[in-house]
Amino acid sequence: MSAHGPVTPMTAQRSGPLRGTVAVPGDKSISHRALILGALAVGETRIAGLLEGQDVLDTAAAMRAFGATVTRHGPGVWTVAGVGVGGFAEPDHVIDCGNSGTGVRLIMGAMATTPVAATFTGDASLNKRPMGRVTDPLTMFGTRAWGRQGGRLPMTVIGAAEPVPVRYTLPVASAQVKSAVLLAGLNAPGQTVVIEPEPTRDHTERMLRGFGAEITVIDTPEGRVITLTGRPELRPQTVAVPRDPSSAAFPACAALMVPGSDIRIPGVSQNPTRNGLYLTLRDMGADIAFENLREEGGEPVADLHLRFTGTLRGIAVPPERAASMIDEYPVLAVLAATAQGATVMRGIKELRVKESDRIDAMARGLEACGVQVSESEDSLTVHGCGADGVPGGATVQSRLDHRIAMSFLCLGLVARAPVAVDDAGPIATSFPAFEGLMRDLGADLRED
Ligand code: S3P
Repeated sequence: MSAHGPVTPMTAQRSGPLRGTVAVPGDKSISHRALILGALAVGETRIAGLLEGQDVLDTAAAMRAFGATVTRHGPGVWTVAGVGVGGFAEPDHVIDCGNSGTGVRLIMGAMATTPVAATFTGDASLNKRPMGRVTDPLTMFGTRAWGRQGGRLPMTVIGAAEPVPVRYTLPVASAQVKSAVLLAGLNAPGQTVVIEPEPTRDHTERMLRGFGAEITVIDTPEGRVITLTGRPELRPQTVAVPRDPSSAAFPACAALMVPGSDIRIPGVSQNPTRNGLYLTLRDMGADIAFENLREEGGEPVADLHLRFTGTLRGIAVPPERAASMIDEYPVLAVLAATAQGATVMRGIKELRVKESDRIDAMARGLEACGVQVSESEDSLTVHGCGADGVPGGATVQSRLDHRIAMSFLCLGLVARAPVAVDDAGPIATSFPAFEGLMRDLGADLRED
């Protein structure tokens, strides 16, 4: 079974040029945060462009369980009547975050300094993922947590009744951990400080500022020092969610692989903590134009125009770029399979603890499609098939991982023989319209 629905095998066949304009959904990271910050504000937050993927729907349900009133008014248009910082009620049932690491980790942070208890669970993928990275700093506030061995879900968290502020240096480059600590810091007196040696996506900082919190960010030799003053009254906001660069990555890479393609993707976030894939694609020789650069909802956005111009060249991806493209390595790996020469991706150990072990999932899937790869604990090298083409002709396990499923379906559009995934169901967690939108561009995708 998929996370939330029946198993859906799907096959991608070699396709003609991809043409047209594709409206990818709202940003997943910002959608989670809009619901959570809306729930922590006093009054009604309005959200337009919310991603209505299962991950975000699970966060909406969780916010209701903690006492907020969350209402859908139309496609992507939602309101959240918040209960204020420290105002969370105790949920009367287990919080099921489905497939979403972002959802569970941010919500644990948001409730960690309010004296309520909550039990969290998820699907088979989420229940394997490490939560200690979040509960370790949360216990410094006075929060208590009991989970399964290795800090796995299901887990019960008891919020601190008398929280103390925390100063914490991130041991891993993780926006989820940073955000959990900052959200916990909201209801601690005094100043909570997070130091991140490597910058990660900064939506929480931007949005906290937008909701009226006092937050400063200073670049220092030890990294970015983020200081949040606790116990603000968050003011409700109108949030316009930009389109998700991580979802845009799939049609974008497909267009760069399928000969003759010419597509546009409007309104995509160009936040510099998220745009590493697009810099990398340009380094590989891709033709990408960033048109109408502007600001929307506090985030830089642009209309992307991508044209196939021929085989791209393999490169060594700068490891310092990893955090800004962490979710894009699976689709980059399939694009690299079609390139000329090797693409070397280093410094990507975090991929081993995503919705699946993405280094292993990509390596095994690419091998099954006739592509030569090598891997280490924190790297993946893909030897491009170039003009000879990727053989394909395999069914790949999607391992409850939406990005693995979408990546291999994109590869199937150019491989010599079709590529199937055993279950495309998980795609609904982040990009429910993927199949229809890709078909509209000219992709031959078939449910088996
Ligand atoms: C996210 C942070 C990243 C990313 C995830 C979304 C977020 O995870 O992989 O899809 O919204 O904060 P890590 O913080 O674990 O790197």
